[in-house]
Amino acid sequence: MTLKKINPTSTNAWSLLQKKFNQTKQVNMCDLFKQNPNRKADYSLKVDDFTLDFSKNRFDDETFKALIDLATETGLQQAIEAQFAGAKINETENRAVLHTALRDISKEPILVDGKNIKTVISKTLKKIKTFSDEVIAGKLKGYTNKAFTDVVNIGIGGSDLGPKMAVEALKFYQNHLKCHFISNVDGDHVYETLKNLNPETTLFVIVSKTFTTQETLTNALTAQKWFLKQAQVADIAHNFVAVSTNLEAVKAFGIASKNIFPMWDWVGGRYSLWSAVGLTISLSVGFKQFNEFLEGAHQMDLHFKNTPFNKNMPVVLAMTSIWYNNFFNAETEVILPYTQYLDLLPMYLQQTVMESNGKSVDRNGARVSYQTGTIVWGSTGTNAQHAFMQLVHQGTKLIPADFIGFSKSLHGDDDHHRKLMANFYGQTEALYRGKTAAEVNRELKLANQQASIERLLTFKTFEGNKPSNTLLIEKLTPKSLGKLIALYEHKTFVQGIVWNIFSFDQFGVELGKELAKNYLKK
Ligand code: F6P
Repeated sequence: MTLKKINPTSTNAWSLLQKKFNQTKQVNMCDLFKQNPNRKADYSLKVDDFTLDFSKNRFDDETFKALIDLATETGLQQAIEAQFAGAKINETENRAVLHTALRDISKEPILVDGKNIKTVISKTLKKIKTFSDEVIAGKLKGYTNKAFTDVVNIGIGGSDLGPKMAVEALKFYQNHLKCHFISNVDGDHVYETLKNLNPETTLFVIVSKTFTTQETLTNALTAQKWFLKQAQVADIAHNFVAVSTNLEAVKAFGIASKNIFPMWDWVGGRYSLWSAVGLTISLSVGFKQFNEFLEGAHQMDLHFKNTPFNKNMPVVLAMTSIWYNNFFNAETEVILPYTQYLDLLPMYLQQTVMESNGKSVDRNGARVSYQTGTIVWGSTGTNAQHAFMQLVHQGTKLIPADFIGFSKSLHGDDDHHRKLMANFYGQTEALYRGKTAAEVNRELKLANQQASIERLLTFKTFEGNKPSNTLLIEKLTPKSLGKLIALYEHKTFVQGIVWNIFSFDQFGVELGKELAKNYLKK
């Protein structure tokens, strides 16, 4: 089972989309709503506690259908089946892509090279559970027999961003352990983190899939030196654990075999928080909730696998984004979570999306003739409104936006939550409706500012017609977080398939690394 290698621009759907774009690029969303009073309902999807309203997009039924047809014509169904079945769809590295297996709670075996990987997955989950339970309960202690108070995750890229984002997102559910993250090879990062820690009560989790990453090894050695100022070499076995595929390198680093949590080459770094790379998440909120996080992702996997494309949330998000990226030439898209807990989500998704789909060579090895990977960025609402939203509302660029909000707040303050959500809806409405010159005129008259009308009219007018998706989730829980991350993972997958690129390698990060090594030799 391999991926089809179809140039998307050669499909019938692409030609139709090009035609539709030329005919309807000026279409106004307000008109679309007038033409179809049921548009909001028609362009909404519900998956358990997730409701996606994608009605505020510049497409009509025919365009939406053509976008879905594009996914079909480029072989998405076969690609989904191949991925979940463990086919080696990461062809350039000859690897399967099975982060989905890490959260597959079914009894169905999944084979890689003839072996059922479910066995090693459940064994590792048990190890994560036992370890987290014992550390949290204070049974597993540091080298002076004191319970751990702090956990320091040392890793970078996928070995940092995922756990860091999830620990922050689930802070409400956190136990007494304080979690810290060191990633940058900038020594100030590690020293600043260590300066207030006590080696006796600090647990280090060194996370590196390859265990060759310069930043992580440098930081781990510095942490170890800091530790050994007070402790003995034999004490490392109490306070250091590692997560890696490279067992030999971890042992050479001095970490005891029993303290190594395995990883596998069928999990990409940026998709690895579901594996033992998520150990710090499990330490932070406990294994039960880590497991719920996996269950949430699995629910989204089932939806993605089993739902027709026009009702499939990841597919709909992916194809909507392709519409703007490839036809409107939108340069970026913005992600706006309306909860402070998801502060790190945009940064996390930058690796998922941009390391996966930042490719310019197609699956046939030829240079692509169309745009691929989207540039994603963002920040939490309402902070973003007081920072960069000016440009999204009135700038010259078209920037499709994803608004992510929650029906319930965690601390339950109604006053705050009503204000937060009023802004959430207010922003999406402002983006699509805009404000006409007539409205500005009327407003200035009412404010007794007739004298300013001529001077201010154009500045105070909003073009509107700016697209956005509104994702409303019941409540931020470990389960809904898992579902949300899986949603964006699958969106990224769909886009890579349609663009005919390989989403699971990352050769683009190598050259800079090599050249940096040359500078070190100078
Ligand atoms: O340099 C990019 C990268 O390979 C990412 O894909 C990965 O998440 C990160 O480095 C860290 O790699 P490792 O876990 O092997 O240290």
